[in-house]
Amino acid sequence: MASIGSEQAPRSRWLTLRQAELNGAIARGRALFAGGGDSSLMRRLAGAAFIIRVVSAAIAFFAQILLARWMGGYEFGLYIYAWTWVLLIGGMVDLGLGSAAQRFIPEYIEHRQFALLRGFLSGSRWLALGSASIIAAAGAVAVKLLSPYMDPKTIVPLYVSCAALPMFGLWGVQSGIARSYNWVNLGLTPNYVQRQLVLLALMGLAFALGLRTDAVTATIIGVIALFSVSIGQLVVLNRRLVGVVAPGPKAYAVRGWLAPSTADAHPPSSAAVARVLDVAAGRRVATQVEGGRTVRRSASRLAVGEGSGRVRPVKTERAVSSVPSWGLTEVGEPVVTAEALAERVLELGAAITADYADEAPLLVGVLKGAMIFMSDLARAIDLPVDVDFMAVSSYGSATRTSGVVRIVKDLDADLAGRHVLVVEDIIDSGLTLNYLRRYLAARQPASLEVCALLVKEGEQRVPLDLRYVGFTIPSAFVVGYGLDVDERYRNLRAVHVYKASGV
Ligand code: IMP
Repeated sequence: MASIGSEQAPRSRWLTLRQAELNGAIARGRALFAGGGDSSLMRRLAGAAFIIRVVSAAIAFFAQILLARWMGGYEFGLYIYAWTWVLLIGGMVDLGLGSAAQRFIPEYIEHRQFALLRGFLSGSRWLALGSASIIAAAGAVAVKLLSPYMDPKTIVPLYVSCAALPMFGLWGVQSGIARSYNWVNLGLTPNYVQRQLVLLALMGLAFALGLRTDAVTATIIGVIALFSVSIGQLVVLNRRLVGVVAPGPKAYAVRGWLAPSTADAHPPSSAAVARVLDVAAGRRVATQVEGGRTVRRSASRLAVGEGSGRVRPVKTERAVSSVPSWGLTEVGEPVVTAEALAERVLELGAAITADYADEAPLLVGVLKGAMIFMSDLARAIDLPVDVDFMAVSSYGSATRTSGVVRIVKDLDADLAGRHVLVVEDIIDSGLTLNYLRRYLAARQPASLEVCALLVKEGEQRVPLDLRYVGFTIPSAFVVGYGLDVDERYRNLRAVHVYKASGV
């Protein structure tokens, strides 16, 4: 009895353990498809992509058995040979625009750069289609040139295969666009599932009708299947995009779209490792590494977080500081002291350093008010920045802008594909900046952000998207630290109220 008992005990323990494992697996499975957070959404999308690939592999397995039976081993081998070339080259013909879609679309949406978004949605597809067609033509020429050295039976299937490449280009980008909107099914099933099913159905039909089912027929049907599902994907994608993207002007930043993504680099570049070591050694405040994460020193430890994002405006406290004797009659108390300015400029510089670690920005200073802020800020940024200036004059009274802006000095630099950071002294109504933003966006920079030192509280007449703000100040006319009245007081070290304005 004892021996029976001792045998049963481990078995029941084993059963309990298996049951616990099973319950755990069920719970994990449930968690995968439930929950409302971002990470649960990502898990579900990854799960959907995984399932599609598994289904695709299963279809491919049965397709191979059926096709080999319908075509005979030799013709099937020829077809597989030709189609392998299509798959090999097809993966590259979109020029990387498929993965660029997943980088640029979320970025354009977040920064509300809708002209660039619309430009990408159509431009990237035309670009991929065009480049893939050129590659297809080059492929056909290569087949022609190499044909004397090839098995004659492979030549026609290879020619036909070239015709598939333009659709691979289109599919690659459309798949990236669909996935960036989390439409995983629309992104993946046309090529992975539907194309194979259409191919099988048409080949089965040809076989049933007693038509020739050789490598040429299979390759032609393969191309027809790819065309039909890619065009179907195009129609469905366009219909869905109408629902999420409002019509409007388009802007193109082709150079930026085609530039290889450093965020995709794996493992991290040696430059990123060196920057993190700098942070660890206290030589840098923070840095950004591949994938947009920021590494900072927090107390004595390294903290990894998401990009620094928006810098919160800091409210100033009224502080007393001396006004030089030559300004006593017109210059009032400081609104922002020289010390507060110096400290905040360093903070802004550190945030910009972290955010643009992968690609140094072009700083665009707006003369003349931003000249001092620009020179301090540029030195607080630990990156090889480029600097350019433009001068604008706004029509209006001495202390009020009208929003009608004249460009007095334009930029020297070409903005196309650059990461532009506008450095502004002060935002009052916001009309000047609003005008500048539109003016600069038309030159197709890769990104366009604003760093404003001062924002007057409650005065803005247009919505503004300010990534970096130094201080919000009460609504009064101010001078100093670059700001003037009739060209005077720019050289005050602090920002002061201008008494004579009567505000
Ligand atoms: P906005 O168009 O009303 O935002 O005005 C912005 C421009 O007006 C700034 O770039 C400054 O040149 C100027 N400005 C606005 N408020 C002040 C101020 O208080 N002191 C000096 N200049 C100002």
